[in-house]
Amino acid sequence: MKDVDGRTIYLKDYAPPAYLVERVDLTFVLAPEATRVKSRIRFTPNPGTASRDFFLHGEELKLVSASVDGQAVTPAVTDEGLTCEVPDAPFTWEAEVEIAPARNTALEGLYMSNGMYCTQCEAEGFRKITYYPDRPDVMAVFTVRIESELPVMLSNGNPGASGAGFAEWHDPWPKPAYLFALVAGELVNHPGSFTTRSGKDVELNVWVRPGDEGKCAFAMESLKKSMKWDEEVYGREYDLDIFNIVAVDDFNMGAMENKGLNIFNSAAVLASPETSTDANFERIEAIIAHEYFHNWTGNRITCRDWFQLCLKEGLTVFRDAQFTADMRSEPVKRITDVIDLRGRQFREDNGPLAHPVRPESFVEINNFYTATVYEKGAEVIGMLKRLVGDEAYAKALELYFERHDGDAATIEDWLKVFEDTTGRDLSQFKRWYSQAGTPRVSVDEAWKDGTYTLTFRQSTPPTPGQPVKDPRVIPIAVGLLGPNGDEVQETTLLELTEAEQSFTFEGLAAKPVPSILRGFSAPVILDRETDNAERAFLLAHDTDPFCKWEAGRALARDVLLRMLNEGAAPDKAFLGALSSTLADESLDPAFVALVLALPSEDDLAQAQVDAGLVPDPQAIHAVRERMRDAMAEALEDQLRAAYAAHQVPGPYRPDADAAASRALANTALMLLSRRDGGALAQTQYDTADNMTQQLAALSALLTAGAGEEALKAFEAQWKDDRLVMDKWFSLQVAHAEPGDTAATVERLTRHPAFTMKNPNRFRAVFGAFAMNQAGFHHDSGDGYRLMADWLIELDALNPQTTARMCSAFQTWRRYDADRQALIREALERIMAKKDLSRDTAEMIGRILDA
Ligand code: BES
Ligand code: ZN
Repeated sequence: MKDVDGRTIYLKDYAPPAYLVERVDLTFVLAPEATRVKSRIRFTPNPGTASRDFFLHGEELKLVSASVDGQAVTPAVTDEGLTCEVPDAPFTWEAEVEIAPARNTALEGLYMSNGMYCTQCEAEGFRKITYYPDRPDVMAVFTVRIESELPVMLSNGNPGASGAGFAEWHDPWPKPAYLFALVAGELVNHPGSFTTRSGKDVELNVWVRPGDEGKCAFAMESLKKSMKWDEEVYGREYDLDIFNIVAVDDFNMGAMENKGLNIFNSAAVLASPETSTDANFERIEAIIAHEYFHNWTGNRITCRDWFQLCLKEGLTVFRDAQFTADMRSEPVKRITDVIDLRGRQFREDNGPLAHPVRPESFVEINNFYTATVYEKGAEVIGMLKRLVGDEAYAKALELYFERHDGDAATIEDWLKVFEDTTGRDLSQFKRWYSQAGTPRVSVDEAWKDGTYTLTFRQSTPPTPGQPVKDPRVIPIAVGLLGPNGDEVQETTLLELTEAEQSFTFEGLAAKPVPSILRGFSAPVILDRETDNAERAFLLAHDTDPFCKWEAGRALARDVLLRMLNEGAAPDKAFLGALSSTLADESLDPAFVALVLALPSEDDLAQAQVDAGLVPDPQAIHAVRERMRDAMAEALEDQLRAAYAAHQVPGPYRPDADAAASRALANTALMLLSRRDGGALAQTQYDTADNMTQQLAALSALLTAGAGEEALKAFEAQWKDDRLVMDKWFSLQVAHAEPGDTAATVERLTRHPAFTMKNPNRFRAVFGAFAMNQAGFHHDSGDGYRLMADWLIELDALNPQTTARMCSAFQTWRRYDADRQALIREALERIMAKKDLSRDTAEMIGRILDA
C-alpha cells in the first residue's frame, strides 16, 4: 500500500504508557487565526512499565515555549509530536502553543463553524490542540480556563469561576483526552432540569445559534427520557451538576459524547414538525440517547486503546437500540436494524474493507468507525445476551460497572465479567471479535415418524488477511408452525457450535414449517431450500415479527430475481400475498409499510453475485420499477383505502403510532403516484403542514415525473434553512434517472448553496449519489469520474469525510470487466493525487489491494 504502510499500528504491539497524568490545567486565549493554548500537566512515571521514553503527541502546532519543573527546555519536535529529557520522577510540564482554528477545515481538533469555536477530539484530535499523551489509557482530571469576548464559553465538567472575558470549568472525573471539549460563541440555550433517582438536581441545556431555539424541545425531552431509562434499565445515574448539548452546523459525524458537553451535528439535534421528518425525530431521539449512554459505557469505563472501540460503541449502539425498542415498536426497530445491517455491514464484510469487530491493525483509526465495529459489535452483544439470558446479562453488566469504573478496559475484561457471572467458557464465542466475514448457515430438514430434524452447517468465506475461519457459537432461535398455521413449537434457542450439527424435535403430529433465526438471533446469512408457497405461508402465519417480515422479503427477492434472470412477469402470488398483508388490519401499519418496500437495488445485486451472476445495476433498477408499477396496478384500490384510513388527524405528533400511520399512507402515495400522474401527491404537497408529509409528497411527485414546480416552490420556501435544503439536494439525486444522475449531481454542485466545506451538504449530494446504484454505476462511467474528481477536491480540505465516502467503491469487484476498469481508473487517479491524506490513501489502498 502506498506510503501509508510504514505507519501501520498493531494491537499486538500495545504497551502501557511510560508516564501517567495526574492533572491537567489548560488555558485557551481564543482568536481565529492565533489561539494560544497553555498547558500545565503533572506527570508521574508509570510504575508498571520499564520504558522511560517521554513522548507527547502533537500535530500542526506551533510550539511557543516549554518547560519542565519551571526550567525552559527545547524538545525535539517532529510532525507527529515531541520528545524531551525529563526526570524519572513526578514533574510538571508546561507548554504554550499557537493554533489557527479558523483555518481548520478538517473539523478535527479546535475549529470554527459560523463564528463559533468548537472541538472534536475523538479519536486522535486532541494532539491538534496541544502536546499531550493522546491515548485513551491516559486518564486525567482536567481544569480549563477560556478567555474570549464571546458570551458563552463551555467545557467539560462543572462550571467554576467566570466573569468578563473568561470562564473556568473543572471536570472531577478522570478522562482520556479524546473526551475533552470546548465551545465558545454567541449561543442561546433551551434549558431544562432532571432530578436523579438519588435526588441530585442536574441542570440541562441545549445550546444553539440564535434563531434555532424553537427546535430544541424534542432533543431536551429525549435527553430526559434517556436519563430516566438508564437509571431504570441499567441502574446508571448521571454524575455531574450540569449536562450541556451544543448544536454545530459543520461536523464530520452525527454527535460526540464529550464528558458533560456533548457536541452534535445540528442535523442530529434540531427538530420541528415543519422542518423535520418522522425519520429525523426518531434518529434524534436515538442519537441523544446514544451519546448520553456513553457517559457510563465509554466515559466512566473507557477503552484501553482504539482496537477496543467496539467495547464502547458496540455496547452503546446495543443500549440505544434497546431504548428505541422500549420507546417505540420493538419489532419495527429490529426489522429496520436488520435492513441497515445487511445494507451496510454485510456489504462491508463481503468486500475488500472487511475487518473483525476488533481489528488487529490500522493506519488511520478514523477509518474504523465502521458498520462492523458499531452494528456488528452491537449484534455480538445481542447474541451474548441471548446465550446467557436476561438475568445473567443484567448481573454481568452490574459487575462490569462495579469492577471497571474508572478503567480503560478491553474486550477481554468485558468477556471476563460474563464468564465470572455465568461460569461459561467464552473462548469460542470470542471468535466473533477476531474473525471477519459473515457466516453462512445452511439448513436441511428431515421428517420421519413424528421426529423433525434440522441440520445446520456453518462456514465463513475468506476475508482480507483471514483465509481460513473456525466455527463460531451461533445462537439460532427457532419456532415451528403446524400445517394450519398454528405454532406447535414456541421459540427455542439452538446453540450451533460445530461446523455441522443436528437438532431434533419430537412428538409432532405433522411435518412442521420451520421459522428459523427468529428475531434475527445472529448476524448470519441463512441458506435454505424452500419455495414461495412456504414463504407466503410464513408471511401470513409466523408469530415472530422478524421472520414474518423476512419471509415476505425472501419472497420479493425471489420474484424480482426471476424477473431479472429469466425475464419472468411480476408474480401474481406475490401480489396476492401483498394484498393479504394490506388487508390484515391487525398488523402495525409500519410493519405493512416494511413488507411493501422492495429489497434494495444493492440487495438484489448481492443476491445475483451469490448466485454466481454479474449484476447489471441498470437492469436491476428497471425491474424494481416494473414491479412497483405492477404493485400499483394490482393493489390500487387497497392502496387508496389504506391512504385514506391512515391520515393522522390533528396537529403533528412525532410518536411511533402517528409515524407508523404516515409511513403506510406515504408508501401508498408513492405507489399511487404511478397511477394518477401525481394528482394525489400534489394535493398532499399543497396541504401538508409538516415536513414528513411535504417531503413524501415531493418524492411521489418526482416519481410521477411531475415534481418540477414543487421542487422550485420547495426551494423558495426553504432556501434559508440549511437542514431542509440538504433534503432538497438529496432528493433530486435519489430520484434522478440512471443515465441522468451524474449530470444532476454536476448541476447541483453548481448551485450557489452547494459547498464542500459543510459535510452535511457534501453528503446530501455525494452520499445520495453513492446510494443511487443505477446512477452511480451507470455504464458510461460518468459516475465514477465525477465522484473521483470531487473526492480529490475534498481530500485537501477534509480527509475524514473523504475517506468515509470512498466506501462508495467497495463493491467494485462484483461488476463486469468494463465497469471494473473504469472504477480502477478512478481509484488510481485518487491514489496518484499529490499529498493525498493518510485517511484516504488507506481506504483506496485497501479497496484496490483485495
Ligand atoms: N463517539 C462517536 C463519535 C465519533 C465517531 C467521534 C467517529 C470520532 C470519530 C459517537 O458516539 C457516535 O458513535 N456517533 C454516531 C451516532 C450513533 C447514534 C451511532 C455518529 O456520529 O454517527
Ligand atoms: Zn458512540
